Amino acid sequence: MLDFIKQKIVAAYETMAVRYNELIEHKPHNAYYDRPNTLALLPESVNGMSILDAACGPGKYAEILLSRGANVTGFDLSPTMVQLAKERNPERGQFFLHDFSQPLEMFDNESFDVVLCALALHYIPNWEPTIREFCRVLKPNGHLVISIEHPFFEYTYFNSQKYFEVEHVTCTWKGFGRPVEVNSYRRSLHDCIAPLTGNGFYIDQLVEPKPVPEFEALDPKHFKELNNFPAFLCIRAVKR
Ligand SMILES: C[S@@+](CC[C@H](N)C(=O)[O-])C[C@H]1O[C@@H](n2cnc3c(N)ncnc32)[C@H](O)[C@@H]1O
Repeated sequence: MLDFIKQKIVAAYETMAVRYNELIEHKPHNAYYDRPNTLALLPESVNGMSILDAACGPGKYAEILLSRGANVTGFDLSPTMVQLAKERNPERGQFFLHDFSQPLEMFDNESFDVVLCALALHYIPNWEPTIREFCRVLKPNGHLVISIEHPFFEYTYFNSQKYFEVEHVTCTWKGFGRPVEVNSYRRSLHDCIAPLTGNGFYIDQLVEPKPVPEFEALDPKHFKELNNFPAFLCIRAVKR
């Protein structure tokens, strides 16, 4: 049984999924900000590697990683996203419905070389059990690569007065069809890092990304803003 906020998160992504999938190729924040900076944290060659794409969305990351020779398994909380990931990657990869706040009991210990989790961890209030599971399913020295909303950006964007608390926040997304209310959880920088370092990882790379040049022509206003202040944070954590 999903809690009330989680039901709202699923409903939002179910509403947006088809349009999200249509736009994912060139949507500036995804294509020219998140993806290039997050992909840069993956091993130089992923050929032959086993990669878990946690919260895979419509499978764009999976498509790129499959084209580079990786074996990709992806899951998502939104049934439509899972279906779109399968359609984008027919007969390649494996995609299924799963909530990453629940144990990854379908996977043995040390199953994956890399766990990727792009732009999704802010949808759960407590990262600890999820990060522990990511650690368990990774091979020794395996990489967990995540991108998240930058805690300093969120603190300002949500006009928070409680930096140290994990806060439930909402905002309205207008970029994927009709406006949709999106629920998530903002937290401090400490609360982004401590679940990693306290559950079997060390931080190998922490990147406050800048948009790549292609962003500018599509959205000059945000290109300028993101060159002055980061909206995302990309982290590579390595299993100790
Ligand atoms: C911003 S999208 C990112 C999708 C994909 N990682 C990408 O970057 O293209 C966030 C995704 O997280 C998924 N999601 C949200 N909460 C989740 C949860 N508890 N378990 C698994 N997936 C979740 C949503 O359904 C959505 O597809």
